[in-house]
Amino acid sequence: MIDQFGRDITYMRLSVTDRCNLRCRYCMPEGVELVSMKDILTYEEMLEICAAAVSLGIRTFKITGGDPLVRKGCAGFIAALKSIPGVREVTMTTNGVLLDHYMTELLAAGLDAVNISLDTLDPGRFREISGRDELDAVKKGISAALDAGIKVKINTVLQKGVNDDEWLRLAMLAEDRRLDVRFIEMMPIGFGRESEGVSNEFLRGEMLRLFPAMKEDLSVHGNGPAAYVRIPGWKGGIGFISPIHGKFCGKCNRVRVTSQGRLKPCLCFGESVNLMTILRGKEDADKRKRALEAALEQCIYHKPGQHCFEEPEKISETARMVNIGG
Ligand code: 5AD
Ligand code: SF4
Repeated sequence: MIDQFGRDITYMRLSVTDRCNLRCRYCMPEGVELVSMKDILTYEEMLEICAAAVSLGIRTFKITGGDPLVRKGCAGFIAALKSIPGVREVTMTTNGVLLDHYMTELLAAGLDAVNISLDTLDPGRFREISGRDELDAVKKGISAALDAGIKVKINTVLQKGVNDDEWLRLAMLAEDRRLDVRFIEMMPIGFGRESEGVSNEFLRGEMLRLFPAMKEDLSVHGNGPAAYVRIPGWKGGIGFISPIHGKFCGKCNRVRVTSQGRLKPCLCFGESVNLMTILRGKEDADKRKRALEAALEQCIYHKPGQHCFEEPEKISETARMVNIGG
């Protein structure tokens, strides 16, 4: 569906849980309280939302969390989602800890691609950043996804003084593996406000200095706003997601649904539509579907034109990233 600014909204990010088996400091540090399970959408409720979204032209779904694999039955949910006529692609963002364990099931369910978050290749630093000793599990998850033959992207968030000295080592994962490494600028949402990120403009300059043959890559790598480059001889690409230093709102194609059923038209603003009240109201299935479609239509049409990360005092979203799903 086309919004008020002429953007075609075809992509929905759906968080299936606010729980996670890591405790990344900029997302879900130790001690963050969890939402009660009864306030989290059931898979059936999520499928109702997805079916309504498909009627409005949404074709691609990204399953997020917390970590989606922490929720039981995630692969079954993906299989059910993929079987809704009109659903073209279902992908997932995960920290990778449980990926090796679930890869066979996910592949059978029809998962099309996976994004794996990885901020460091150093075990001690991994524990420092994510609160847990799970680097080996994540590495196994990456190998399992590559072996399964699905598209793999690594998402890296650099933080000044924490892991910014490691960007080259992380980028070089793409040298001899068929995966893209993407650097995501830290966004001032939730605990991300307390961490200092690194500008992708700077990073790109550093890369060009080291690899003068680096070329922009205009081919489509996914559904998102990353700008890609290729380094001759490397198997994978390098992507830059630059919400702060390369605003891409004019091309935004997405809406988000939190695990509690809040439909969010923009990451930056607190405005959302509560789909849970429709889903748990007294209407029958047909009326619910129409009400969901009407709510989605309204929300998509009025999607804000752009975020306001450059003016942090205007950011009205107070939820944490772990509750939004990235
Ligand atoms: N800014 C940028 N990226 C973030 N993520 C979590 N919090 C932030 C933030 N404030 C990333 C995680 C993961 C993805 C789901 O979102 O690192 O890769
Ligand atoms: Fe979990 Fe990802 Fe948040 Fe880390 S960034 S706490 S892995 S949801």
